[in-house]
Amino acid sequence: MSLDKKSFIIPGSSNSEFAKNLSKKSKIPLGQVTIGRFSNGEAKVRIEEEIYGKTFYVVQSLSIPVDENIMELCLLVDALKRGGAEKIVAVIPWFGYGIQDKVFMPGEALSSKVVIDFLETVGIHSLITLDLHSDNIVGFFEVPVVHLTAIPLFARYILEKYGKKVLVVSPDFGGAKRARRFAKNLGQSGVIGIIDKERSLTKGNLVLRGINLDVFGKTIVLIDDFISTGDTLLETVKLLTNAGAKKIIACITHPILAKDAAEKISKSNLSKLIVSDSIIITKEKKQLLKKKLAIISTVSLFSPYLKL
Ligand code: R5P
Repeated sequence: MSLDKKSFIIPGSSNSEFAKNLSKKSKIPLGQVTIGRFSNGEAKVRIEEEIYGKTFYVVQSLSIPVDENIMELCLLVDALKRGGAEKIVAVIPWFGYGIQDKVFMPGEALSSKVVIDFLETVGIHSLITLDLHSDNIVGFFEVPVVHLTAIPLFARYILEKYGKKVLVVSPDFGGAKRARRFAKNLGQSGVIGIIDKERSLTKGNLVLRGINLDVFGKTIVLIDDFISTGDTLLETVKLLTNAGAKKIIACITHPILAKDAAEKISKSNLSKLIVSDSIIITKEKKQLLKKKLAIISTVSLFSPYLKL
């Protein structure tokens, strides 16, 4: 127990590696915490630090198992609030449920808002997060939100390894703004390729109808916010390959890599998958992806917002 320190980083169990790296970068110590589970599956947490009057940065990605990770985060925040923390900042590199930012069909929940209500009710004072699925989500919060983006880091990587002469492609209309920003970060005018993609709201299956530009002989850099089943990426890679693209690289912030996505990518025509460290990738998946995978650390984006 460190009585003299003013701030602590509290690692949730979903991405303790990110918490450790953030602690190193910001020089804010990692706080001791015990996270356990009762035999009926309920989580139990205990902060093993002096809490009263101090600032806490609670790091938790809302990755798989999403609901368990949300609950654990809420319990950590509640424990800090009850202990008299002066400030509680949620550091959520991947904001799960951000995908459900609308009522897509009548009868559905506004799920992003529900998670935000949980976090605000338990007592977070602010949030620091990365590449939300949509900027609109920021407006759902009552507390201040720092919304960071990995785009400049991806752009630096692409410029170093592949140069400026690449064509940026968004796999759907929803990602066009992100892709244009990325192209501008590469020093380009903002011309981008956009895939005409439709996803069934009930079954989730995809139809890719084509792309607005000629990709023949070009090096393509796809940009997206997350990769879950990998279907969007793989269907896009197929379409671009059939249209004669020379090389296809993807920059995708959040590597959910659900189910057999890593295996499918390993067998695909994608040359490189560049992701952030917002979600931990298991050893097995790293093994499958081998040199196809590059992970970029984003802690340098977060650390300026943490105060010792
Ligand atoms: C779509 O709006 C997202 O930005 C992603 O393109 C997509 O949904 C990723 O999911 P999956 O990997 O399952 O296709």
